[in-house]
Amino acid sequence: MNEAIRPGPESPPQAVATPELSVVVPTFNERDNVTTLFRRLETALAGKAWEVIFVDDNSPDGTWDVVRGLARQDTRVRCIRRIGRRGLSGACIEGILASSAPCAAVIDADLQHDETQLPKMLALLQTGETDLVVGSRYIEGGSADSFNKQRAGASQFATEVARRVLRVKIADPMSGFFMIRRDRFEQLAPQLSTQGFKILLDIVATARGDLRVREIPYTFASRLHGESKLDSMVALDFLGLVLAKLTHDVVSLRFLLFAMVGSIGLFVHFAALYAALEAFDLPFPNAQGVAALCAMTSNFILNNFLTYRDQRLKGFAILRGLLLFYVVCSVGLLANVGVALSVFDQEPIWWLAGAAGALMGVVWNYAMSGLFVWRKR
Ligand code: GDD
Ligand code: MN
Repeated sequence: MNEAIRPGPESPPQAVATPELSVVVPTFNERDNVTTLFRRLETALAGKAWEVIFVDDNSPDGTWDVVRGLARQDTRVRCIRRIGRRGLSGACIEGILASSAPCAAVIDADLQHDETQLPKMLALLQTGETDLVVGSRYIEGGSADSFNKQRAGASQFATEVARRVLRVKIADPMSGFFMIRRDRFEQLAPQLSTQGFKILLDIVATARGDLRVREIPYTFASRLHGESKLDSMVALDFLGLVLAKLTHDVVSLRFLLFAMVGSIGLFVHFAALYAALEAFDLPFPNAQGVAALCAMTSNFILNNFLTYRDQRLKGFAILRGLLLFYVVCSVGLLANVGVALSVFDQEPIWWLAGAAGALMGVVWNYAMSGLFVWRKR
């Protein structure tokens, strides 16, 4: 240990003023932005009792380390360093739940949101007539001019889908800048999705009109340092959220992706089985085994990139995961070949036997992968 840990001087316990506002900042690779954001929060919230909680998903650039430095100098700063998890929504939820102030704000670390609006948002919540204040780019006085054409189009499209399909009434449900009353958030929290990045949309859709919302305009600025974390895959997350909210959480995105990867696996299986039988002249049991191995491998890769992208295995963990996947599925493979053989015995139709075996294998893979390979850490 290179730092001495000494207890502070003996002093009677004191009641420290508890914060009236917790500012939650999700971060991933924002090392160059967090100090500037903190300074700006200090200026914007001068005179208020506030705290800031950075929720960092173990950023490779060491954002958490910079935040720790700030926290050592100022008790208003805290850092939650999450290991083995990724996700904007989940980070925001955890940050809000880790605080106790009656009001909680969520703001990006890259200074694209306008922290000078926070006192106004707080005042609106403190009147007691509002549960949620949304920083909005799409009302009079707001703007998102820093967006490029493509991003602006995507944002508008998603906004339209949310408004029409989920009947969300606000102008900017895609905003990531808002402030909410803690008691209302705690009520909704168990129903929110930790996957994905549209936490505000989730909150508003989950509340189903039962939140008193105010929107205030702000200008979406350009990112200070670093780059956006949102890739084309966020479209999938968005789709998943819309589906989950539409079906009252009966259909989850993971379930859908499982099914989709499964059917692709079936296709891979057929293609490999066909090739093994026709091109390589393998006897049927061997061909079925090879086909199942191909399907298993492609299922693993696809699930790692899509179904479990928030818990994606990387580096050596991929190899370990793949091996584990093979091991847990070896029983499935036996069942697969067994089922296929017995079907083939009775009815020598290769595709029927192949399908029966593959189905057996796919169901097994699903159950096992959730339990062992991408288990929640
Ligand atoms: N902890 C954590 N985990 N934080 C994350 C993750 C993650 O997986 N992904 C992104 N963040 C953090 C970023 O570090 C940043 O502080 C904030 O979340 C927003 O991410 P950006 O990468 O800056 O995304 P953006 O600028 O493309 O998206 C913003 O604009 C959208 C409006 O179009 C976000 O504010 C969205 O919430 C907003 O909807
Ligand atoms: Mn950003």
